[in-house]
Amino acid sequence: MAFLCKVLFVVAVLYSVGVVGHEDDRSAMFALKRELVLSSWAASSAANDSNYCSWAGVLCTPNTSLVESLDLSHHQLGGNVTSISMLKGLKMLDLSYNNLQGPIPPSFGNLTQLQVLDLSFNKFSSSIPPAFAALTKLTSLNLSSNSLSDRIPDELHTLKELEYLQLSGNNLVGSIPSWVAKLTNLKVFTAYENGLSGRIPENLGSFSQLEVLNLHSNQLEGSIPDSIFHFGKLEILVLTLNKLNGNVPAAVGNCIGLSSLRLGNNRLIGNVPSSIGNISSLTYFEADYNHLSGEIVKDFARCANLTLLNLAFNGFTGVIPAELGELMNLQELILCGNSLYGDIPTSLLKSKNLSKLDLSNNRLNGTIPKEVCGAPRLQFLILGQNSLRGEIPHEIGNCVKLLELQMGSNYLTGTIPSEISQIKNLQVALNLSFNHLRGPFPVELGKLDKLVSLDVSNNQLSGNIPSGLRGMMSLIEVNFSHNLFTGQVPIFSPFQKSPTSSFVGNKELCGEPLRVACANSLASNRGAYHHKVSYRIILAVIGSGLTVFIVVTVVVVLFMMRERQEKAAEAKDVIEEEKNALQPVIIASNVFVENLRQEIDFEVAVKATMKDANKLTTGTFSTIYKAVMPSGLASHDCLLSPIGFVIYEDVALLLHHYFPNGTLAQLIHDSVISKAEYEPDWPRRYSIAVGVAEGLSFLHHVAIVHLDISTVNIFLDSAFKPLIGEIEISKLLDPSKGTASISAVAGSFGYIPPEYAYTMQVTAPGNVYSYGVVLLEILTSRLPVEEAFGEGIDLVKWVHCAPTREKDRSKYLMRG
Ligand SMILES: *[C@@H]1O[C@H](CO)[C@@H](O)[C@H](O)[C@H]1NC(C)=O
Ligand SMILES: *[C@@H]1O[C@H](CO)[C@@H](O)[C@H](O)[C@H]1NC(C)=O
Ligand SMILES: *[C@@H]1O[C@H](CO)[C@@H](O)[C@H](O)[C@H]1NC(C)=O
Ligand SMILES: *[C@@H]1O[C@H](CO)[C@@H](O)[C@H](O)[C@H]1NC(C)=O
Ligand SMILES: *[C@@H]1O[C@H](CO)[C@@H](O)[C@H](O)[C@H]1NC(C)=O
Ligand SMILES: *[C@@H]1O[C@H](CO)[C@@H](O)[C@H](O)[C@H]1NC(C)=O
Ligand SMILES: *[C@@H]1O[C@H](CO)[C@@H](O)[C@H](O)[C@H]1NC(C)=O
Ligand SMILES: *[C@@H]1O[C@H](CO)[C@@H](O)[C@H](O)[C@H]1NC(C)=O
Ligand SMILES: *[C@@H]1O[C@H](CO)[C@@H](O)[C@H](O)[C@H]1NC(C)=O
Ligand SMILES: *[C@@H]1O[C@H](CO)[C@@H](O)[C@H](O)[C@H]1NC(C)=O
Ligand SMILES: *[C@@H]1O[C@H](CO)[C@@H](O)[C@H](O)[C@H]1NC(C)=O
Repeated sequence: MAFLCKVLFVVAVLYSVGVVGHEDDRSAMFALKRELVLSSWAASSAANDSNYCSWAGVLCTPNTSLVESLDLSHHQLGGNVTSISMLKGLKMLDLSYNNLQGPIPPSFGNLTQLQVLDLSFNKFSSSIPPAFAALTKLTSLNLSSNSLSDRIPDELHTLKELEYLQLSGNNLVGSIPSWVAKLTNLKVFTAYENGLSGRIPENLGSFSQLEVLNLHSNQLEGSIPDSIFHFGKLEILVLTLNKLNGNVPAAVGNCIGLSSLRLGNNRLIGNVPSSIGNISSLTYFEADYNHLSGEIVKDFARCANLTLLNLAFNGFTGVIPAELGELMNLQELILCGNSLYGDIPTSLLKSKNLSKLDLSNNRLNGTIPKEVCGAPRLQFLILGQNSLRGEIPHEIGNCVKLLELQMGSNYLTGTIPSEISQIKNLQVALNLSFNHLRGPFPVELGKLDKLVSLDVSNNQLSGNIPSGLRGMMSLIEVNFSHNLFTGQVPIFSPFQKSPTSSFVGNKELCGEPLRVACANSLASNRGAYHHKVSYRIILAVIGSGLTVFIVVTVVVVLFMMRERQEKAAEAKDVIEEEKNALQPVIIASNVFVENLRQEIDFEVAVKATMKDANKLTTGTFSTIYKAVMPSGLASHDCLLSPIGFVIYEDVALLLHHYFPNGTLAQLIHDSVISKAEYEPDWPRRYSIAVGVAEGLSFLHHVAIVHLDISTVNIFLDSAFKPLIGEIEISKLLDPSKGTASISAVAGSFGYIPPEYAYTMQVTAPGNVYSYGVVLLEILTSRLPVEEAFGEGIDLVKWVHCAPTREKDRSKYLMRG
């Protein structure tokens, strides 16, 4: 209270002195400041009290001192801002990202000079003031992300200058008023995530060159009017999650600049018009969950930039057009839940950028081609619930990037290829259930230490369930039911913790959880696999590989590379590789840093990657090798930008300076192993934590999400400054969704946010979760996943349980 009085006193004194300014605006500005006295905005301008034109966010017209522009965004303002309506000369008012509540002051309608009004990201409630009808000069009105209710007022038909009208994320109801269709300057209209109903106005777009129309998540019905394609200027059209019916208008082909077309979750009928092929800039096409039918038009193949094509859960029939394989940029092809038949086109399986292929729940009745792994970036291969015949080809082992393999409910025969064990990244699921597979379950699959879900139920598999499966350290869900397995159910989890339904239907399987005693339980247990595939040991091995004089590190971007070790498995490839080792054929190379040109020997760099001994670390996406340059180039401490690249065959190498202090993982964990009484260097750890946060914050600021935040990807320069690695493969955020543009890789085990399992989307908040794990790691010196934590407990859960453990301990001590 005392503080408040002092401020008022100062204000009063200055006011009476009467410095320069416009009387009305001065009193309005001082009234505003009094009202917002406790805010960061009022504090930021305290140093220069008298001249309101110099306050933060204020811009005045030169000689008149009339406030022309007021930007108070991002100040957590929560007070009464009504006095702003006295600033009669105001042309621009931005109050976005505050905590303003209650109705929007109707007196803002007095700001008749306003051209830009941004009240978005507040908590304004009640209806949009009809008094806004007086703001006839308004070109941009942004009321999105508030709690505004009621109908969009008809009175606002006077706002004829509007170019940008943003009303999304409110509780608006009723229909979109017809005046919106008559705005001749309208470029951007968004009203998604409201309760709007009725039809999209018939003439919307007839009079204006609409560029963005986003109305998703409403209750809109009727058909998509042709008018919105009239001028052909549309770039983004999002109508997802409404009740729209009728056809996709052929006029859509006029909009050759359209990049994003999302029509999913409506009631659209008919086929996609072949004019879709005229939209050369089309990047996203989503029309899942509609009633579309007919054959998939091959005209999609003309959309050379197409990155995502999602036609899931419609009534499409016929064969998958082989022409889709021409789409060099295609990353996701989702055609599940239709009535497609025939083969999986091999052309598709060679698509260089394809990362997700979901053809499940169709009537595909061909075989799985040997070329199944021709797409080097394939992460999701979803072929379940079809009528696929024949054997699973051994070449499946070449799908080294695969995270999920679904082949359940088909007519597959033969054995489970042991080559599946080469898919080291397999993580989400391996599902071969409901087929006609026979023979033993390959013990090699025990190497899949990231796999979470394994379902081989309903086949004719026989023999023991191998105890070597203990190596599958991430497994949570197993299903071996309805096969011909014999012997004892392995005595480790998750087998022991599974419900009986995971093992029923095998006549000669015994032990828990089946409650069938085994005759000779020792026999089946003998082969127990001595595992200790602890991360700590892996890290220790990496650590010992670090010596002092290596100079350049070479990052092999696995995207473009068939994994070396996997290749080596096949003898003829070994020979080929040795040939390469002698003479790598360099296709292209460059050094960006002028004064380093002389120092870099590309052949040495390429050859270094061919020896496993040179391997420093392996991330999810890349492997890092050391390469000693013949010139003996000295160390340096910059990393974020590579110093050069080499491309040979299908491998791309990025050259970085060497990181003399290794990774954060090594700093935290190796020292703990080597010293019994380890004292962490807290100031250093603190500055590393801050540095990583700054790096991550920068990435998010430029709308990039990192795909794999972990201490293994944080490198330390000679001054222990942290540098975030693997940025090369970070993904751009999709502005309309706030998630990585395409469902992407999970990241490293233990760092993955729990919701990832459901959303399969890497998000900026998900990155922050991973960063939180890094912080816990820095604080506790524990690994994100340790066996010592116990079954199914990761570092996060372990820290959560700390209070309980402490209580238990003190109870124990008291008793003792
Ligand atoms: C205060 O405003 C005057 C002009 O009115 C300006 O010359 C001076 O630099 C300002 N001081 C600060 C600290 O902003
Ligand atoms: C503002 O002052 C400048 C010269 O200082 C003058 O040329 C201009 O006409 C003045 N504008 C108004 C609106 O008074
Ligand atoms: C805000 O302040 C104005 C006077 O500036 C007053 O008329 C109005 O009632 C106040 N509104 C609220 C919600 O307190
Ligand atoms: C400002 O607007 C309010 C409400 O719309 C109105 O009652 C008031 O008379 C207006 N004040 C001036 C000065 O125009
Ligand atoms: C509000 O909408 C305008 C016009 O589209 C846009 O320029 C502005 O950035 C938006 N405001 C926010 C906070 O996103
Ligand atoms: C598509 O483009 C072709 C020429 O490339 C043109 O003949 C055809 O009329 C266009 N179709 C539509 C529907 O715009
Ligand atoms: C395809 O995408 C690239 C890169 O975004 C862009 O430069 C190009 O103009 C696009 N092509 C068309 C036809 O829009
Ligand atoms: C794959 O996509 C990238 C952009 O993500 C693009 O630069 C590249 O050309 C594409 N690959 C092919 C073979 O077209
Ligand atoms: C696949 O199914 C289609 C449509 O039912 C049928 O015409 C075709 O003969 C089948 N192909 C094979 C190889 O069974
Ligand atoms: C495996 O696939 C089958 C058929 O697609 C499905 O019914 C089953 O639920 C899947 N198993 C798991 C564990 O998801
Ligand atoms: C295992 O699969 C069978 C069907 O094959 C299913 O009925 C059972 O619920 C599954 N068990 C678990 C634990 O998922």
